[in-house]
Amino acid sequence: MAVLDILRYPDTRLHTVAKPVAQVDERVRTLVADMAQTMYAAPGIGLAATQVNVHEQVIVIDLSDARDHLRVFINPEIIAHSEERADGEEGCLSVPGIYDEVERFARITVRALNLDGQSFELEASGLLAVCIQHEMDHLKGKVFVQYLSRLKQSRIRGKMAKLDRQAA
Ligand code: NI
Repeated sequence: MAVLDILRYPDTRLHTVAKPVAQVDERVRTLVADMAQTMYAAPGIGLAATQVNVHEQVIVIDLSDARDHLRVFINPEIIAHSEERADGEEGCLSVPGIYDEVERFARITVRALNLDGQSFELEASGLLAVCIQHEMDHLKGKVFVQYLSRLKQSRIRGKMAKLDRQAA
C-alpha cells in the first residue's frame, strides 16, 4: 500500500470527469487500498480517485470514530433522492483548511459495485449522504467550493496560493 499525493484546488486535473471502472480486478483493489491509506493518513473521512489523479469512478469513505469501517463505492449512481434538501458544512482534502455550507439532497439511494464487483444499494442520510454526494461530485470534476460565490472562490484560490508559497 502507498500514501498517494492529493491534488489541491485549483489544480485543473480536479475537473477531469472520471470514467467507469470496466472490471473490478486486483489493479482496482490496489487503488482502493492506496486510497484508503491516503484518506486515513490525511486524515479525512472521504476520498475520490480524482483527488489522487486517477480518473476512474472510485470512492472511499469512513465515518467511524475507530476508523475501521471502510465503505467503497465503485461506479456509484444516485438512483433515488428526497425532495428535501439540507445545508451542511463541508470540507475537502483538496482544499485544506476551508469549510463552508453546501446544500445537498437530505436522503439518497446509491447503487454501486463493491470490491468483489457485485452491485449493492444503500440508503443514506445525514453525514453519509453528504459525503457520498461530495465525493460523487469529484468524479464529475466538481469541487465543493464551486457551489460558493465567485468572491469566496477567489479568496480560497488566494489562500491556496499562499499555502503553496509557504510550502516552497
Ligand atoms: Ni473533497
